[in-house]
Amino acid sequence: MAVRTTVDEIRAQEIGSLERKLEEIRNYWNEHIHDLKLARHPIGTKGFFADLEEYRFDKLRYLPKIVDFGGYREKNLLEVGCGVGIDLARFARGGAVVTGVDLAQKSIELAEKNFELNGLQGEFMLGNGEDMEFDDNTFDVVYAHGVIQYTANAQKMVDELHRVVKPDGEIIMMVYNRKSWLNFLSATLGVGLEHEDAPVLRKYTIQEFRELLHGFSKVEIIPERFPVKSRLHKGLKAIFFNYIFVPCFNVIPRFITRNSGWHIMAFACK
Ligand SMILES: C[S@@+](CC[C@H](N)C(=O)[O-])C[C@H]1O[C@@H](n2cnc3c(N)ncnc32)[C@H](O)[C@@H]1O
Repeated sequence: MAVRTTVDEIRAQEIGSLERKLEEIRNYWNEHIHDLKLARHPIGTKGFFADLEEYRFDKLRYLPKIVDFGGYREKNLLEVGCGVGIDLARFARGGAVVTGVDLAQKSIELAEKNFELNGLQGEFMLGNGEDMEFDDNTFDVVYAHGVIQYTANAQKMVDELHRVVKPDGEIIMMVYNRKSWLNFLSATLGVGLEHEDAPVLRKYTIQEFRELLHGFSKVEIIPERFPVKSRLHKGLKAIFFNYIFVPCFNVIPRFITRNSGWHIMAFACK
C-alpha cells in the first residue's frame, strides 16, 4: 500500500511538473510571436502578415519546393503549433480545409485575424498538441513545422500527430538539427539562435529524430535550410556571415553539405 502511494505520488509530481512546463511554454509564446521583429507594419494588420510571409519564404526558400501547399485541395488538414497561420494560409489558398491548433492564445487570435484580413476560411482552436480533442483518424494531412522541439514532451506530441491522422494520411514535421552548420556557427561565433531562451528547445540528430518517429510505417527525412543572408543580425558578424560565409558555403555541392541542414524535415505515413 505504502509503495502504491509512493508510485502515485511520483506520477502526480511528474504530471504537475509537465503541466507547469506547458504553462511556461504557453506564457513564452504569448510574448514571443515568431519572426515578430522582422515585421515593418503594426501587429495584426494586413501589412504585418504580408511582412511575415515575405520574410518566412525568403528565409525558408526550400519550403514551397518540398511542401506542395497547393496540392491538398479539399483535404482535411491540421496544423499543430500554427503560430499566426502563415503556412496554414498557404494551404488554405491552395484549397485545403484547414484547422489550426496552438498552445498560445496570442497566436490563435493573430491567426484568426490573418485569415479574416485575407478572406480565407479556417478553424482555430487553443489547445495542446500533446493531447488534442480530435477523434482518432480525423485528418488527411497533419503539419507541425518548428513545434515538436519546443514542447514539453516531444514523444507525446508525435504520438498524438500519429493518432489523429487517417490511416492513409500524411504527416509533415520539422525539428532542428544539432549537427548543422547553424548550430556550429552559433557555438563558434557565439551568435544566439532564435528562441534560444524558450522554456524548451531541443535539437536532434537525424538518427534521434528517426527514433522519435519509430511509430510511423514510412519516414522520409530531408535535411534542409541552408545559409541565406540574414536580416536579423547586424555588425561585423553579420558582414562576415552575409558576404563570406553564405557565398562560400553555398558553392560546396549540396550532396556534401546536405546532412548539415538546420531543418530536419520528415514526411511520414501512418
Ligand atoms: C517557432 S513557433 C512556430 C510557428 C509556426 N509553426 C511557424 O513555423 O511559423 C512555435 C509554435 O509552437 C507552439 N507550441 C509549442 N508547444 C505547443 C504545444 N504543446 N501545442 C500546441 N502548440 C505548441 C507555440 O505556441 C508557437 O506558436
